[in-house]
Amino acid sequence: MNKGPIGIFDSGIGGTSIWREVSRMLPNEDTLYLADSKNAPYGERTKDQIVQLSIKNVEFLKNKGCKLIIVACNTATTNAITELRKLYKIPLIGIEPAIKPAALNSKTKTVGVLATKGTLSSALFHHTSENHANGITVLEQEGTGLVELIEQGEVYSDRTRELLQKYLEPMLKKGIDQLVLGCTHYPYLIPLLKEMLPKNIRIIDSGEGVAKQTKNILQKYGLFNEGSSLPVGKHQFFTNGDVLILKDFLKDITVPYSAQFLDF
Ligand code: SIN
Repeated sequence: MNKGPIGIFDSGIGGTSIWREVSRMLPNEDTLYLADSKNAPYGERTKDQIVQLSIKNVEFLKNKGCKLIIVACNTATTNAITELRKLYKIPLIGIEPAIKPAALNSKTKTVGVLATKGTLSSALFHHTSENHANGITVLEQEGTGLVELIEQGEVYSDRTRELLQKYLEPMLKKGIDQLVLGCTHYPYLIPLLKEMLPKNIRIIDSGEGVAKQTKNILQKYGLFNEGSSLPVGKHQFFTNGDVLILKDFLKDITVPYSAQFLDF
């Protein structure tokens, strides 16, 4: 047992999609979430910039006493987790596009991955993709512009719909039956995607898998808090972007939390 919070960072508010699964599966854990919205999107940055921003975020969370850190950003994971693991002893959990379950489930043997340019161009993504895509065609699609729209709170607007239409069409024409969301912002588009996609297409995101992995790692290192005698976790969110938009994304949350602006 260890009462330090679980630290979570993302290039913005998208990683709250991961936070939701983590707080649901680990109700007695405190969390501290860092939204680096000022520097979003990471997906359009160089690898070196992404590594430097990730180090800044890890330093912040480590100095706040976090016992484990989730890199709740596909772009930061695929570009910086190797460097972070060399620098820090604290357990680090990264997020990669869930190509494995998609490949295993695909009947058409064709899988679509929607992710940022930064993720799709990374060596780690290609390594994972090649490892799991045995006999499967993996169609990669950059989601340029989507993170910016989501950061502005536009998860259901005409502009978002138009961009999605443009990105989905080529993959649909080639017969995908699985769509992997390779960016933690994109799960907020699931209601719109469900409207736009044919019913046979399965949408896959990484939230549940990451929460399970977090639980396993906490157990492995003796850091896990669980039990009806323990209080429910407390949750703190910090953003260097628009705190009102962050609060709007959190408006359905029923557990105690605080959200504030911080110019980190
Ligand atoms: C971005 O900041 O470009 C997207 C974050 C992600 O890849 O999850």
